[in-house]
Amino acid sequence: MESVDPPLRAALATPDGKSRYTRRVFATIADRYDLITVLLSYGQDRRWKRRLVAMARIGPGTRALDLACGTGDIACEAAAAGARVVGLDLVARMVELAKQRLGRTPRDVMLLVGDMMRLPLADRAFDLVTTGYGLRNVPDLAGSLDEIRRVLKPGGRLLALDFNRPGNAVLRSIYLGYLTMVGSALGFALHGDPDTYRYIPETIRMYPGAAGVARLMRERGFVEVEYMLVAGGLMAIHSGRTRHLSSVVPGPRTEARYAAPMEIDTSLWSGEGDFTRVLLETLKGFDRIAFLRVEDAPASRAEAGYNLIASEFYVGFTTEERRWPGRRFGFPIARREVTGSTTLAGLGAALSAVEAIGPPDYSDEGMLQYLRTEHVVPPYQTRGYKLVELVRIYEIGREPRR
Ligand SMILES: C[S@@+](CC[C@H](N)C(=O)[O-])C[C@H]1O[C@@H](n2cnc3c(N)ncnc32)[C@H](O)[C@@H]1O
Repeated sequence: MESVDPPLRAALATPDGKSRYTRRVFATIADRYDLITVLLSYGQDRRWKRRLVAMARIGPGTRALDLACGTGDIACEAAAAGARVVGLDLVARMVELAKQRLGRTPRDVMLLVGDMMRLPLADRAFDLVTTGYGLRNVPDLAGSLDEIRRVLKPGGRLLALDFNRPGNAVLRSIYLGYLTMVGSALGFALHGDPDTYRYIPETIRMYPGAAGVARLMRERGFVEVEYMLVAGGLMAIHSGRTRHLSSVVPGPRTEARYAAPMEIDTSLWSGEGDFTRVLLETLKGFDRIAFLRVEDAPASRAEAGYNLIASEFYVGFTTEERRWPGRRFGFPIARREVTGSTTLAGLGAALSAVEAIGPPDYSDEGMLQYLRTEHVVPPYQTRGYKLVELVRIYEIGREPRR
């Protein structure tokens, strides 16, 4: 029988509730995630992910974004195929585990904690978006597809692997009942809590299934939408494209962000530094920046002991307002949240996808740092003749660290 779990269903019923529940459950299972995936898929999961990456036809330098990256399986596969990858997940522990794994095999991957409902990334920055079991977990599937479409370049591709939802009611009952039973046993064995994996059948129950997802992708503007069933139809890999440039009509969100011109202040900058110049020109094109200032940094060449150009950027991000219905004391109310449209980490990820910039040499939540050796004069000379350019980006309102 298809078992129903009313408290869990209630927890997943609202976008807010589902976000909170998802974050909590994945933070709990993060350290056992790889093991549980092998057990639940009978070791087949990696094979399906490899197939997804093969379908992506990655070429050298493909800019890829892996959403809900978890411990980094797909991000690593995509990077191994030659892509420059940004991986993003809601749960910090998942990202930490992915970082640990990447530490063992250095690859062109940058990892971020973030919500795929509100990507801290620039419009049209990626050739490819991948996600494994991401779409089923978001609180608003249509909204998440819109975000994916926003960050894809015209003609860019989305590839998504997830559970299917058997169309036949009897089959569905048996399948979901089976998952509930196995999930409960594993939840008890691994976490002492049989409910830990009950969200899997519950989210499948609420999911539109492979055909429904394909329909929604078309509705949200994807073209060439198709899906391939795997594991005898229990799983599906969806693929779709954004329209090519000639057929792109700018969406209202993009227009709104371009509406206010970016404030740019270069009065405290000497104009020195090739990389600083490239960075300034690139940042001018980012519609999520409201304010941009570049200055010469206080460090002088004499102090540094070799030829140094140092500049600092201060950026202020545009803000976004979200409204959604909620309840207080049983009465309907409109909740409102104003957040920055991106973060420094998001900016770093977006810049990583720009050929002339690439990933920062160092980053933390308060600063991005780029170090460039501009040239050596003459070539046989030692460090005293290197021209080094050091550029740091801070978010406005944060104190720079000297
Ligand atoms: C089932 S795991 C899949 C992990 C990985 N993609 C894989 O295939 O192994 C689902 C992941 O989605 C993440 N997730 C859930 N909701 C998310 C959201 N709104 N934004 C980003 N990640 C999310 C969870 O933290 C979790 O790591």
